Amino acid sequence: MDQDTIVGVIGSGAMGAGIAQVAAVAGHKVVLYDNNNAALDNAKTGLSNTLQKLQEKGKLKNAEEILTRFTFANELNTLAHCTLIIEAIVEKLEVKKAVFAELEKIVSDTCVLASNTSSLSITSIAAACNKPGRVLGLHFFNPAPLMALVEVIPAVQTDDTLIPVAKQLMQQWGKTPVVAKDTPGFIVNRIARPFYGEAIRIYEEGIADMATIDWAMTEIGGFRMGPFALMDFIGHDVNYVVTETVFQSFFYDPRYKPSFAQKRLLEAGWLGKKSGRGFYNYAEGSSMPQANKDETLGTNIFERILAMLINEAVEALHLNIASHEDLETAMTKGVNYPKGLLKWCDEWGADKCLEKLDGLYHAYHEDRYRASVLLRMIVASRRS
Ligand SMILES: NC(=O)c1ccc[n+]([C@@H]2O[C@H](COP(=O)([O-])OP(=O)(O)OC[C@H]3O[C@@H](n4cnc5c(N)ncnc54)[C@H](O)[C@@H]3O)[C@@H](O)[C@H]2O)c1
Repeated sequence: MDQDTIVGVIGSGAMGAGIAQVAAVAGHKVVLYDNNNAALDNAKTGLSNTLQKLQEKGKLKNAEEILTRFTFANELNTLAHCTLIIEAIVEKLEVKKAVFAELEKIVSDTCVLASNTSSLSITSIAAACNKPGRVLGLHFFNPAPLMALVEVIPAVQTDDTLIPVAKQLMQQWGKTPVVAKDTPGFIVNRIARPFYGEAIRIYEEGIADMATIDWAMTEIGGFRMGPFALMDFIGHDVNYVVTETVFQSFFYDPRYKPSFAQKRLLEAGWLGKKSGRGFYNYAEGSSMPQANKDETLGTNIFERILAMLINEAVEALHLNIASHEDLETAMTKGVNYPKGLLKWCDEWGADKCLEKLDGLYHAYHEDRYRASVLLRMIVASRRS
């Protein structure tokens, strides 16, 4: 894969259109395909407007020329001459498998097939293909043109030589690639779960209200957004579904258990900012709840959530989900954490983190709070 790579993108929704923009700006010819004409028209207008705006802001000089690199297609056959195809359609395994199987009938034997799935197994998508060695995950973050991180995920069947080539191409696109094992949630969507789940747990137990938890995580913790504001921003249709999928895919590990508080919001159609109501009420004239800015309470909340996040990162390292460096890059570039969680563990103290987790485990007697064996090993080795 190089500058001559002709990129096909399947699905012209939020992610597909964003990925298509990144590839075209990087100089590739791009075929953007969707089976819904309205979605395709929308993407066409959106891309044209975005590129013009970027030019007005001085961020690029050749919007018109970049636009000529696109072909908008409503027939799969139009992708026949592409040499890399990135799929970004609806998050349903059977639909993705069917599309990959169809694609193989029309593309060349050397065309690389990638999926942008957030939570499905790349291995099971590859299994739908006759040549599974050419399939991999390329997981972009939303919005794709702005977020630097791309998780590169080899399936069990992926040809080893494809990974360095894919990483290099992502770098050429101005992205920061990290390599993740094909396990649920890959890196970011796995390690970030307690940011939401533990915050909701604290709220459900009545330890603090959401405004106080958001205040603790932003003011004391230094996160850009608090968990409740962030979940409302992402949308509960997306955030809850990722949590539920990760929970199911981990064979119902209690660490990832979804909450009723968030499930009910989804059922009510209170999807967050986009629907005017989520955890918070965004209707005009409604006032935001005020935080209880008690330092001791705030520190307890922050340390409880941080300990759970660090535990996830340490466990991911222990299970070789990614390298130390890639785990740190993923959390700082994929979800803008103020620092890498492994570095945070060192700065705060692995012993303090373990003490916090063991305290929770002792209090709740729940597997959810079990500390990673690697965290115990780190503390033991530092003591000796
Ligand atoms: N939205 C995010 O934050 C995000 C982030 C990373 C990855 N993803 C993943 O990216 C993928 C797409 O997500 P999205 O948010 O862009 O969805 P979206 O609903 O905005 O867009 C999906 C598009 O795919 C089209 N589509 C559906 N089935 C199709 C088919 N069989 N053939 C051709 N086109 C089809 C739809 O018409 C729609 O335009 C999903 O796998 C999702 O998990 C989403």
